[in-house]
Amino acid sequence: MVALDGPSGTGKTTVARKLAERLSAGYLDTGAMYRVVTLAVLRAGADPADAAAVTAIARQAVFTIGTSPGRPAVALAGQDVAAEIRGPEVSHAVSPVSAVPEVRELLVARQRRIIDDVLDEVGGIVVEGRDIGTVVAPDSRLKVFLTASAEVRASRRGAQDSAAGRQVTHADTLAAVNRRDRLDSGRAASPLRAAEDAVHLDTSELDIDQVLVALVELAGRRGLLS
Ligand code: DC
Repeated sequence: MVALDGPSGTGKTTVARKLAERLSAGYLDTGAMYRVVTLAVLRAGADPADAAAVTAIARQAVFTIGTSPGRPAVALAGQDVAAEIRGPEVSHAVSPVSAVPEVRELLVARQRRIIDDVLDEVGGIVVEGRDIGTVVAPDSRLKVFLTASAEVRASRRGAQDSAAGRQVTHADTLAAVNRRDRLDSGRAASPLRAAEDAVHLDTSELDIDQVLVALVELAGRRGLLS
C-alpha cells in the first residue's frame, strides 16, 4: 500500500490515480470522504463549526466512495456528488468539519475497512490524504509527502477552477490555499504533517508526468511493481 499525503495543489489526486493504475491497485481519496460529510452538513443547513451537529450528521450520512482509479464515484444518499463536493461551498466548509475528532474517528475507521477490503480483493491500494502515513495506515509500504509552494498550488487550483467553469481571482485562490493550510496544519486532531519515514517530494518545478516517474521509481524500490 502507498500513502500519499500533503496539502492540496501538489498534484496529489492526479498522480495518486495514475500511480494506482500503473500498479494495478485500488485508489482511495480520503479528502472526498471529508468533503461528502461536509456536503451533508451543508444540505442539512447545519453550521460547519457546530461540532455536535456535525458529528450527528456524519453518523447518519449515507454515502459511498468508489475505489477505482479510473473514475472514483462519490454518492450521497444515492446521488452522484463527485462534482459538487469540489465546489467552493464545500471547499470553504471542509476544514472545520475535518477538525472534529469524532468525524475523524468515524472516517478513519471506515477508511481502514475500505483499505482492508481492497487489499484483499485487488492486492494493492494507493491512499491519498493528510494523515494516511501518520494515522490511517502507519504500516504503509511506501509513504510519500508531496509539497509545493503556496504560489504554485494556488495557480494549479486556479487552473482547475477555470476548467470547471468557476470564476475565481488568483488573489482569492491564494488566500484560500493559505487559509486551508493554516487550518489543516494548526488543528489539534491529526494535523497535516509528514510521517517520520515519509519520502518528501517537492512538486513545485515538476509536471505530473515527472512526479509520476519519481513515484513509480520509489514504488519499484519498495517492491510494489509487478
Ligand atoms: O484533499 P482535499 O482537498 O480533497 O481534502 C479536503 C479537506 O479534507 C482538507 O481541508 C483536509 C481534509 N482532509 C483531512 O483532514 N484528512 C484527510 N485524510 C484528507 C483530507
